Amino acid sequence: MRFPTSPTTGLASLILLPNALAVIAANIPAPPAEEPITIRELDLPPVIGSSTAGNCSTGCIGKDTGVQSGGFTPDDEHIVSIINFVAPNDTNRNYTGLQAILMKTVPGATFSNGLSWRCITCDVPTGNQVGRNKPMDYPDVFPNGTRIIAGTNIIDCSGELFTSSTCTPEKTFIRPIRWSNTADDSGTGGSMRELRMHPDGEHLGWSSQTMGGQSVFTGRLQYNDGPSTGTPLSPRYDVVDVNILYKADSSPITFDDRGNLSINNSAIDIGELRGFSGTGREVLYIGYPTESCNIDVYAIDSSTGAIRRLTNNPEYVDPVDISPDDTWTVIMDTRASHRQMFMAGMRGIPPLLDMVVTTAASSTRNNGARRFFQPWLLDQYAERGSYKGQQLNAGNTSNPSISDPNWNGRADPLWSRDGTQIIYWQTLVHAPACGASNPLPCPNSTAQGGRLDRVMLASLTSRDPVAGQEIVAWPDVVPWATKFAPGDELPAAQMPASYSPGNYTLTGRVAGFASVMLTELGTGKGIGGVHVTYFNYSDDGANVLNGNEAASVAFPSVWLNVVDWYSDITQTGAVDGRKLTTPASGFHLEIDALTNVFNATGNLTTVLDGVVYVQPGNGA
Ligand SMILES: *[C@@H]1O[C@H](CO)[C@@H](O)[C@H](O)[C@H]1NC(C)=O
Ligand SMILES: *[C@@H]1O[C@H](CO)[C@@H](O)[C@H](O)[C@H]1NC(C)=O
Ligand SMILES: *[C@@H]1O[C@H](CO)[C@@H](O)[C@H](O)[C@H]1NC(C)=O
Ligand SMILES: *[C@@H]1O[C@H](CO)[C@@H](O)[C@H](O)[C@H]1NC(C)=O
Ligand SMILES: *[C@@H]1O[C@H](CO)[C@@H](O)[C@H](O)[C@H]1NC(C)=O
Ligand SMILES: *[C@@H]1O[C@H](CO)[C@@H](O)[C@H](O)[C@H]1NC(C)=O
Ligand SMILES: *[C@@H]1O[C@H](CO)[C@@H](O)[C@H](O)[C@H]1NC(C)=O
Ligand SMILES: *[C@@H]1O[C@H](CO)[C@@H](O)[C@H](O)[C@H]1NC(C)=O
Ligand SMILES: *[C@@H]1O[C@H](CO)[C@@H](O)[C@H](O)[C@H]1NC(C)=O
Ligand SMILES: *[C@@H]1O[C@H](CO)[C@@H](O)[C@H](O)[C@H]1NC(C)=O
Ligand SMILES: *[C@@H]1O[C@H](CO)[C@@H](O)[C@H](O)[C@H]1NC(C)=O
Ligand SMILES: *[C@@H]1O[C@H](CO)[C@@H](O)[C@H](O)[C@H]1NC(C)=O
Repeated sequence: MRFPTSPTTGLASLILLPNALAVIAANIPAPPAEEPITIRELDLPPVIGSSTAGNCSTGCIGKDTGVQSGGFTPDDEHIVSIINFVAPNDTNRNYTGLQAILMKTVPGATFSNGLSWRCITCDVPTGNQVGRNKPMDYPDVFPNGTRIIAGTNIIDCSGELFTSSTCTPEKTFIRPIRWSNTADDSGTGGSMRELRMHPDGEHLGWSSQTMGGQSVFTGRLQYNDGPSTGTPLSPRYDVVDVNILYKADSSPITFDDRGNLSINNSAIDIGELRGFSGTGREVLYIGYPTESCNIDVYAIDSSTGAIRRLTNNPEYVDPVDISPDDTWTVIMDTRASHRQMFMAGMRGIPPLLDMVVTTAASSTRNNGARRFFQPWLLDQYAERGSYKGQQLNAGNTSNPSISDPNWNGRADPLWSRDGTQIIYWQTLVHAPACGASNPLPCPNSTAQGGRLDRVMLASLTSRDPVAGQEIVAWPDVVPWATKFAPGDELPAAQMPASYSPGNYTLTGRVAGFASVMLTELGTGKGIGGVHVTYFNYSDDGANVLNGNEAASVAFPSVWLNVVDWYSDITQTGAVDGRKLTTPASGFHLEIDALTNVFNATGNLTTVLDGVVYVQPGNGA
């Protein structure tokens, strides 16, 4: 593919600015030294049929535990988790299904049942849980310890702390959360997923999938003792003062009628909610990539709309939590595996192909049930130079160590309230992501009863507790967002917001330019192809790109992405790099965004200063 040279920009004379980064770095402190971290696995209820299971009168679980660890109680001596109980027979029906448990985080500590965990929803009378919703994910404890959010439910103990010995099942209530989305308030409300509580204990955030994609919302909880409209009609928590975290006409990529294409890293484009910062000033989310194929997490300020890029490593990140004082970030990220370097390793490529490949690129982070996440600690200034953060569980990777990569990190890792501990959980890779026809063997679990999940507590032993942070309440009206009233239409989740097929020029921030051709999907609904040629293009003055790259996408079904990809980019300057697909025939990736099984023909390879990064094997 050949492109005309830009009639207006010409070939900008290239001035290398090797000190540009150093100048920025002057205001940023040197990276922190590695710190001591100890990690301990917390006990879970016994696996049914195992030697220590007993009669399961206090609950048993299966090998596939359904666990999800959640937030700390105000005393930091417990966390809430969700777990799937299985009963051996009809004698203890109460200990079945998804339930919330409290787990002790202090070594050797027990509840009055003699165990280090206690189920808080198991024996709750039916009349105390009218309208309860099934989802119990992303459990968290409210700031004053008297409520728990789990999925689209709120659990309370009639105002008592869950850690109190006088909090009994009879005093415990499980009530649904409902987001009204109809003008007359009829119906069951809008579909809410992955809810996160704001540290003010009054607001929450969630994502909601629509046909065109996903939107992110915030709102305020309002207890409704006797609703007269909508279902359920039982006592419930209504979500009011709802904002869509969407700004009309704010797009990371824009086009003008003179043929210029611009990239705006301050544009508001919130892909998926990931939580709130420690003080609550910011909301955390996965955003449109800043660099091609490099999926990162960002934070946006509730009042100013100012955006911080929390991570920049080329690998994939999504689970994230910010410390109570906002100075540290913990993430789950694939960076220990180098899995995505073949497509994202070359730095400074503008996110142009991403208009069509972002879903496919982010779907390569897993191979089905084999995930490549491990927990990493980063300071508030993110990666820089050789600093990539500190892997919490770095060490000898042999089975069954805390560092065994077959134990895959899950969402979310969470900070204790005093900032000295982090709770996270992992799942052992299992069939069909290993064994049978899969080229990789299945590891055997050495956890209690052969269970496939484990909950881990990391202690940052050199840190002093932090306290007294002022919480910034989430605004009922988010100035840069869009008010949502029940019945309102949702904005079309389309990126870029508006475009026309055709040829454009992107001018490098420091030098050079790129010619960009956009073609439409066969359906005429969205961009289907992006072709780019770089001419001495440089955004940072340190690296220069030349060559070309093109990709097109087709969607045989809603989640299936079929991508045809051709790259031949050369990088010079600070790094000597090449991003190359199989000559002539290219790289063709077929991946379903729900199952994430890598399946490609042809190769996409990135070489950086002689280090070669190749794609994963099919199904591996
Ligand atoms: C249920 O299990 C307990 C302990 O294993 C056993 O004592 C009891 O007989 C079982 N009940 C039934 C109905 O099978
Ligand atoms: C189950 O075991 C516990 C503890 O050993 C015991 O107190 C309880 O009576 C047993 N229940 C049944 C139904 O056997
Ligand atoms: C189950 O919970 C109910 C309260 O909802 C209680 O009355 C009952 O005794 C419990 N059953 C068992 C086996 O503990
Ligand atoms: C705890 O916070 C809730 C709001 O989240 C409030 O309604 C309740 O009164 C508080 N309880 C105590 C004991 O402070
Ligand atoms: C956009 O295009 C016009 C006309 O082609 C040109 O004069 C202008 O400099 C371009 N602007 C940018 C930001 O590249
Ligand atoms: C980038 O987007 C932000 C947020 O919408 C906006 O305030 C800013 O003006 C945009 N910048 C440019 C150059 O368009
Ligand atoms: C890693 O741990 C395994 C098993 O505990 C041990 O055999 C091996 O020597 C250790 N390797 C290193 C480099 O310490
Ligand atoms: C798992 O255990 C089985 C049965 O003991 C054994 O045959 C197999 O080799 C083990 N797998 C691995 C990866 O160690
Ligand atoms: C864009 O450029 C290509 C390559 O030069 C050319 O074939 C095509 O016709 C152009 N498209 C438009 C809409 O001008
Ligand atoms: C790119 O820059 C190099 C070095 O300044 C120059 O020799 C070359 O002609 C330029 N190429 C293009 C396509 O602009
Ligand atoms: C892709 O790379 C592998 C080695 O990594 C090689 O065996 C294979 O032939 C390559 N395929 C193509 C189409 O170039
Ligand atoms: C990849 O796709 C081909 C053709 O659809 C299919 O035959 C093959 O089983 C797939 N491989 C994997 C690992 O999914």
